[in-house]
Amino acid sequence: MKEQLEAIQAEALERISQTENIKELQDIKVTFLGKKGSLTGVLRGMGKLSKEERPVVGEIANKVREAITAAFEEKNEKLEIALLEEQLESEAIDVTLPGRPVKVGGPHLLTSIVEEIEDLFIGMGYEVREGPEVETDFYNFEALNLPKDHPARDMQDTFYITNELLLRTHTSPVQARTMREYKGEKPVKMICPGKVYRRDTDDATHSHQFTQIEGLYVDKHVRMSDLKGTLDIFAKKMFGEEREIRLRPSFFPFTEPSVEMDISCKVCHGTGCNVCKGTGWIEILGGGMVHPKVLEMGGYDPEVYSGFAFGMGPERIAMLKYGVNDIRQFYTNDIRFLKQYHKA
Ligand code: PHE
Repeated sequence: MKEQLEAIQAEALERISQTENIKELQDIKVTFLGKKGSLTGVLRGMGKLSKEERPVVGEIANKVREAITAAFEEKNEKLEIALLEEQLESEAIDVTLPGRPVKVGGPHLLTSIVEEIEDLFIGMGYEVREGPEVETDFYNFEALNLPKDHPARDMQDTFYITNELLLRTHTSPVQARTMREYKGEKPVKMICPGKVYRRDTDDATHSHQFTQIEGLYVDKHVRMSDLKGTLDIFAKKMFGEEREIRLRPSFFPFTEPSVEMDISCKVCHGTGCNVCKGTGWIEILGGGMVHPKVLEMGGYDPEVYSGFAFGMGPERIAMLKYGVNDIRQFYTNDIRFLKQYHKA
């Protein structure tokens, strides 16, 4: 029996020393020391031994168990440390690596331009108002002195939902709405930015949907010179202090007289070049003195009140300011184009 025990010990220690796998090590332990293990098997046979032999064999058996357990524990610890080290190495993070930059979005160029224009007019005491893009024929045309069948409607053909409902062709209906809301009781000083629609074929300078900002100032004693002064400030703040403006006669059904405003060309400073097509001037916006009929329909007595209005396209402003040559760039969401204009 003694030999049997020694053989078990020798085999167990040999196998423990050979294995490099924690799972296998556990199995080895069970094979030798478990309930059905070989050491236990031998001990079961001890009943057959004589009284004198029993303590001797018992002692040897204990030593064998201790030896196997000690060897197991030592190896187990070694393997656990090795496993941990391996894990630490494989999961190590190199804190010296540069971080991956997070992509940060920014306002669209058009949004920035609209905000810039808004800020400018807020600074001059204007309020910012908005109105519906699906508009009634009344507010889009009639209240602006464009009765049904007026030939000037041709300049602003649009998308109709019904005979009376359409996609607004300009932001002017917001002006008509505001005047009616204020009921002729207080002055109006507002700008209205927003999307507008026209039946246009899209090309480098036209789009069926674009943006407008219009301004309206109605009060007692508002004069053409107020319009000119306001637009002059706008042009200088937007395009540079050295810019000159000029007003040319024009026509809009809702203003009388009507004007078109040009700014001096920033490239040639007025002497004529490719950008200004040799004229020295670049057209920026339309405006004029609010037509008495429009004041009247808005609830303001034209004998008491007068006003000016102007309207511009932020796309055009942005194109001139940043040298963008295709209006479609504003709508196609090409990140390479847009991110050039993100302010840090
Ligand atoms: N609503 C005009 C347009 O879209 C622009 C404009 C506004 C002209 C106000 C004069 C006064 O063409």
